[in-house]
Amino acid sequence: MGRKFFVGGNWKCNGTTEEVKKIVNVLNEGQVPSQDVVEVVISPPFVFLPLVKSLLKPDFHVAAQNCWVKKGGAFTGEVSLFNSKFKFDVSCLCSAEMLVNLGIPWVILGHSERRLILNESNEFVGDKVKYALSQGIKVIACVGETLEQRESGSTVDVVAAQTKAISERVSDWSNIVLAYEPVWAIGTGKVATPAQAQEVHSELRKWLHANTSPEVAETTRIIYGGISFYLSFVLLLFILNLIMAARIKINIIHYMYIPKAADGDSCGKHRKYKIADISFSCMFLYMYLFLIAFGIPVSGSVNGANCKELAAQPDVDGFLVGGASLKPEFIDIIKSAE
Ligand code: G3P
Repeated sequence: MGRKFFVGGNWKCNGTTEEVKKIVNVLNEGQVPSQDVVEVVISPPFVFLPLVKSLLKPDFHVAAQNCWVKKGGAFTGEVSLFNSKFKFDVSCLCSAEMLVNLGIPWVILGHSERRLILNESNEFVGDKVKYALSQGIKVIACVGETLEQRESGSTVDVVAAQTKAISERVSDWSNIVLAYEPVWAIGTGKVATPAQAQEVHSELRKWLHANTSPEVAETTRIIYGGISFYLSFVLLLFILNLIMAARIKINIIHYMYIPKAADGDSCGKHRKYKIADISFSCMFLYMYLFLIAFGIPVSGSVNGANCKELAAQPDVDGFLVGGASLKPEFIDIIKSAE
């Protein structure tokens, strides 16, 4: 059974009215595949939902980044207090009824940042999924493990428990897309491979097959949303290269002032040491240039460089994209559905 490719763009807590209009313009101008091939859902911060919905071509749908667990009422919402550059997944609290009223068909629930930062429990997320579906809202339900859980080998147990909390409350999966988001702390320098993403997707599909039904397992789209730690690795390497560049310069100047002397004596050895040090320092530069030049496809954040390799995985039915969904390369990511 062919599962329609699904690409979600999670803008998180970013954007101003001007920036939103620019991004929407890139999307509307982009030559994306038809809706028969790929389903594209854009998820701006709540305050921009009506604007984005009104400006986007019908090829695109919109999603809220969260909604409340029950009927609206005396629940004062979280309002982002940060400027648009501070990436933080805090969306305004809104009820599913409000989304219905605004004609917003989708909502992201259980996002890894909300589970980690706002301590949303599996049960709380399961209740929210159940309530949103009961109001006619379709759900992108997120699951994912932390670095510690992965390194302790409990990835499958963790994502299975998160999925179980949903399956215990929901029987109809036709309006759920499951998003696997490995929550690996930024700056760990840990990199995965698309094959590791596939491995977890395959385990999730097996879990659905055993615990819901073969049909649910076959038809439910499982999409991938990496976390941008790859970028921090590259930035770390860049900073290292700046330090090494200063070191190379100092060593070259020193080398030029060491009197030429026959090998074997202290000056000769000193010259050799300097050459060794310069070439060692250059190694980081080579590594950095190689990484940038070949855009090594790692499972970190989904981007224009790794999306094709990820999309080729048999159990990866699409993506939930963060940072790259704010950039023109998002069009390339949508096209990876072809
Ligand atoms: O919801 C998607 C997300 O968490 C991935 O973010 O910036 O790593 O693509 P990013």
